[in-house]
Amino acid sequence: MERQKNEQEYQRPQVIEEGIILGGEALKKAPKVYGVPTGIEGLDPLFYTTEIKDKKVIRKSLGGIPSLSVINITGASDTGKTLMVEQFTIKQASEGKKVAFITVETPATFVSLSLNERARAMGVNFSEIEDNIVLIDAASHTSLRENIPNLLATLAYAIKNFEVRFTVIDSITGLYEHREMLARTVVRQLFNFLKKWYQTALLVSQKRSGHEELTAEAAGGYAVGHIVDGTIVLAKELIMSQYTAKVFGRPPGDIVRLFRIDGCRMCGHDTRTFFMEITDTGLVKIGQPLSSK
Ligand SMILES: Nc1ncnc2c1ncn2[C@@H]1O[C@H](COP(=O)(O)OP(=O)(O)O)[C@@H](O)[C@H]1O
Ligand SMILES: [Mg+2]
Repeated sequence: MERQKNEQEYQRPQVIEEGIILGGEALKKAPKVYGVPTGIEGLDPLFYTTEIKDKKVIRKSLGGIPSLSVINITGASDTGKTLMVEQFTIKQASEGKKVAFITVETPATFVSLSLNERARAMGVNFSEIEDNIVLIDAASHTSLRENIPNLLATLAYAIKNFEVRFTVIDSITGLYEHREMLARTVVRQLFNFLKKWYQTALLVSQKRSGHEELTAEAAGGYAVGHIVDGTIVLAKELIMSQYTAKVFGRPPGDIVRLFRIDGCRMCGHDTRTFFMEITDTGLVKIGQPLSSK
């Protein structure tokens, strides 16, 4: 009898008062969002915030991706995702910030060569900033790539010891290869971790070529897009028909690269599709919008 009563009491729904917070109080506790420059020409002005001036709502550029956001960069292979996160890494490191770069596909030694090249193209002396970059080599270590708790413990260690505030993962797809049903769980774990440690993060995810270009659907389905704070989509198109030649204003045979911010819940952003360019020194640049409307 007594036991039954206890069980009933145990199961009775409870009000969890700590779970309730008024808007004003929550806002007071919220960190101030500012722009984090990316080192990618033309990208920083595309994120903005709004201000009220003379009773009018005006748009104000944030000057970078929103701080403390976790942004997913997705696209098929060869669309410029790695170049983008390398530019971001060099930019932050050159401002004296510590960046953790988790490499999942390419061994760290090769990534360092690539970062060195990116720095040179950006006019930065790599030897002056190299120790601001903490490489975590999950490509060479299966115990990191295939064990998320190990990876997060290692990242936590790096964040604490090097005072890391920016994290790059190239790519998260490599963390759930052949295990796509786990994509949601993996991405959710990474996201929660990055939030807990106050990181501003860029995650790279790969699209299979079968996925429609310029949509956010990455390998692992929509798992990534729904969890992260924002998504950037990159695409590459070979002009093969008169129709696409006309749409893009480029001759057949040309390669057109496209860029779009697919969504960001941390701040406002430009919603247009832009031409993107990879310069001959290997730097990604955002160009003109496809339509000027
Ligand atoms: N130094 C360079 N000069 C010219 N183009 C480059 C240079 N480095 C990279 N690229 C171009 O960028 C492309 C892919 O960039 P990358 O960021 O590696 O793509 P992803 O990570 O999306 O697969 C390369 O295949 C090449 O076409
Ligand atoms: Mg890549």
